[in-house]
Amino acid sequence: MKQIKVTGGNTLTGEIKISGAKNSAVALIPAAILCDETATIFNVPNISDIDALSEILEYLNAGVKREEDAIIIDSSSIVNKEIPKGISKKLRASYYFMSALLGKYKKVEMYFPGGCSIGARPIDQTLKGFKALGASVLEDGDKYTITAEELKGGYVYLDMPSVGATINTILVAVKATGTTIIENAAKEPEIVNVATFLNNMGAKIRGAGTSQIKIVGVDKLHKCMHEVIPDRIEAGTYIIAGALAGDKLKISNIIPEHVESLTSKLIEIGVDIEEGNDYMIVSKKDKYKKTKIKTLGYPGFPTDLQQPITTLLTQCKGISEVHETVYERRFQNVQYLNKMGAEIKINDDKAFIYGPCELKGKKVTATDLRAGACLVLAGLIADGTTTIENVDHILRGYENIIEKLSNVGANIKLVDIL
Ligand code: EPU
Repeated sequence: MKQIKVTGGNTLTGEIKISGAKNSAVALIPAAILCDETATIFNVPNISDIDALSEILEYLNAGVKREEDAIIIDSSSIVNKEIPKGISKKLRASYYFMSALLGKYKKVEMYFPGGCSIGARPIDQTLKGFKALGASVLEDGDKYTITAEELKGGYVYLDMPSVGATINTILVAVKATGTTIIENAAKEPEIVNVATFLNNMGAKIRGAGTSQIKIVGVDKLHKCMHEVIPDRIEAGTYIIAGALAGDKLKISNIIPEHVESLTSKLIEIGVDIEEGNDYMIVSKKDKYKKTKIKTLGYPGFPTDLQQPITTLLTQCKGISEVHETVYERRFQNVQYLNKMGAEIKINDDKAFIYGPCELKGKKVTATDLRAGACLVLAGLIADGTTTIENVDHILRGYENIIEKLSNVGANIKLVDIL
């Protein structure tokens, strides 16, 4: 069992270089199998979610090679067979194989995907997309057998702008006959990254990044090279670290526009931020003002930064409010922040944070990926040592988090407990 130990109080200074976006890479890798040749994807983060997807590729008999930050996927020898429960459930993004295999072979057999336990996370909108394109879905418990005689372009109105359903519908539509329209599509930059990748392979996708996406099906996709965009959630996490403990902490290799909903909030509460073309320099200030945050799809404030920013809100004067509108169970970090000395009350989908308060190092648990990030941030400013358990969640999504934070002065280590 692994633990992260953080001893608080150190100033963070120097540079943290942001890795490729987890939520983009986990979609690009399954998307790569839609071509019958080789796809090379650069700037792939070295995190366990990528290992889990590589395992699925290898299981399907694809060629997979890692070279530095690149992954080279050869799909010419894929065998389409049932993806077992164990690997389907390792991560949420396994369900991008549902659409990629269906789009390519008109048949897929796999299980309900895994992922952080932060809410019900149904896949009804993805299945609605498949059905609109002519697929039949057979459900047997949590096993899905999805088949289509022919995939024909269709009209899909998503009940909510779901990232997963938008990408899954694109993946199944790129090789369908005719035109597919997705209305109320999600607008996240990761979707644009996936659409650009597919277009580079010969797909015809227009409108990614807006709420209406049009896909004209093509027969064949060809080989290509592509790069994963910088991880805006990793960037946001370290920008918050800078607000908590930074002295000119530089966060580089970012697309500032992708973190604007965060930085505009930080400026509002009084954080010192200097913005460059592809970096930000963040310094801690002594006093911060309270604020209100409501999580929304892009370009709104991302739910994935809601837990990390809650740590910062414990340092703001007054009662701050967080309204979580995306997931029902994304306040599991709060019990541990309170254990460390915060005063946070939850009322339904809102959390009220009474600040400022002093945090103390305690033994806490990462219940999910971003809850873990929230606790690492709390540990950086707490008095004494914070011991975080269940850290596999954190290692799923943050490349080299220990090295990145140690290199800028944090007292943080990963320990193996027998
Ligand atoms: N939803 C449905 N039905 C569906 C799909 C979604 O009701 O068929 C609901 C969900 O329950 C949720 C909301 O719609 O309440 C949004 O879900 P969405 O489909 O957008 O999320 P996702 O695709 O499952 C991705 C990221 C999440 C991130 C969300 C929102 C991946 C692998 N995961 O999830 O990332 O929170 O988009 O931006 O891309 C994380 O990185 O920590 C993480 C959880």
